[in-house]
Amino acid sequence: MDFLGKSFSYRQGSLYCGNTRLSDVADEVGTPCYLYSATDIVSRFNAYAAGLEGQRHRICYAVKANSNLAVLGLLARAGAGFDIVSGGELFRVLKAGGSASAVVFSGVGKTADEIDYALREGIHSFNCESEAELALIDAKAARLGKRAAVALRVNPDVNAATHPYISTGLREHKFGIPISQVEDVYERAKSLRNIDPAGVSCHIGSQLLETAPLLEALDALLVLVDQLSSRGIAVRHLDVGGGLGVPYKADQKSPCPTEYAGCVRERVAGRDLEIMLEPGRSIVAEAGVLLSRVLYRKQTGGKEFVIVDAAMNDMLRPALYSAHHEIIPLRQKGFGTIHADVVGPVCETGDFLAREREIANVFPGDLVAICTAGAYGFVSASNYNARPRPAEVLVENDGWRVTRERETYEDLIRGESL
Ligand code: LLP
Repeated sequence: MDFLGKSFSYRQGSLYCGNTRLSDVADEVGTPCYLYSATDIVSRFNAYAAGLEGQRHRICYAVKANSNLAVLGLLARAGAGFDIVSGGELFRVLKAGGSASAVVFSGVGKTADEIDYALREGIHSFNCESEAELALIDAKAARLGKRAAVALRVNPDVNAATHPYISTGLREHKFGIPISQVEDVYERAKSLRNIDPAGVSCHIGSQLLETAPLLEALDALLVLVDQLSSRGIAVRHLDVGGGLGVPYKADQKSPCPTEYAGCVRERVAGRDLEIMLEPGRSIVAEAGVLLSRVLYRKQTGGKEFVIVDAAMNDMLRPALYSAHHEIIPLRQKGFGTIHADVVGPVCETGDFLAREREIANVFPGDLVAICTAGAYGFVSASNYNARPRPAEVLVENDGWRVTRERETYEDLIRGESL
């Protein structure tokens, strides 16, 4: 079960996370419910750190992948920095006990208020995506009497060979500044009084199952670092972004974080640079499952449908990217398998969790786990169809706790008026 973290296993036919039987959690908390393994999250984070040992570095977990406070708190205690893309994510990091000085702020559309907030809190640096943004950061920093550390986000024109919606490093994408123009923008940055051109950054895409494009981008950045240095711009940090993929399918192979980080370390050896990575998915994806209960079975149009109580509003990835998530029963009953679509209650044909899938022969009342759901799962949940968002549970040490309550109907209308 590579599509799940090492803490998950079947014991006497029941799915466990550590010593927690998942069906016990589902019975107590209800479904749908996200459940994460603290051990798996921290060990994946440590796997990155191990590869960079001996090299000055900072692993900035990409908060967008899973921003539950308890998850952020775990990572903060493990020594993580954070990659944020909004003021809201900065707020979450600070609430979780993270330090602003370990935060990098990415994103193509930072607002003036967000820049202001980040400057006041004293973040490590901005990953800046355009000259216009640079000018705004300069103006805001001037007003606060600060000098803002900035890394320009370089678009290295490398093909990440992943799903087109999550590939970001090609010339035609909206992200970053083309590598061919970036030296001029650094000159401009150097001339601004309240900007400290402290670093170089990039992020070429997500769910990469090969490291070659990531290392190709790194090589291009290292050439740039040398060129900048010959112009008298000595950057102090190099941020290679995130992007390592995870196995969503039983037979999928994915890169090992330690090996990848080791390759990065070898390439930068001997340079006086702080190396930063921004992994999100590869830290939390396999550490999480979405628990759901089967509501009905139905045969129509010559097809078998398993209708469960989790839907596209709880887990958007299958509807949005036709993403594959393995679906396994919480209790193995030995009734063979069926060929079915697993769908939710939302009124959309796109509301499916699996299509044309060979799955365990489950019946109404049975519980299933939608696997590899720890990344980009809860964070993209919505209230579509006026469905309260699910609870989140963290399994830690020998116990588990609810780290986010299931929303109530009252939550659905908070802030609204007639
Ligand atoms: N840094 C930046 C600037 C990013 O835009 C992203 C992800 C990351 C780091 C983290 O990448 P990761 O290590 O997680 O691959 N919702 C999509 C994924 C969107 C990724 C957006 N950017 C999905 O569910 O597959």
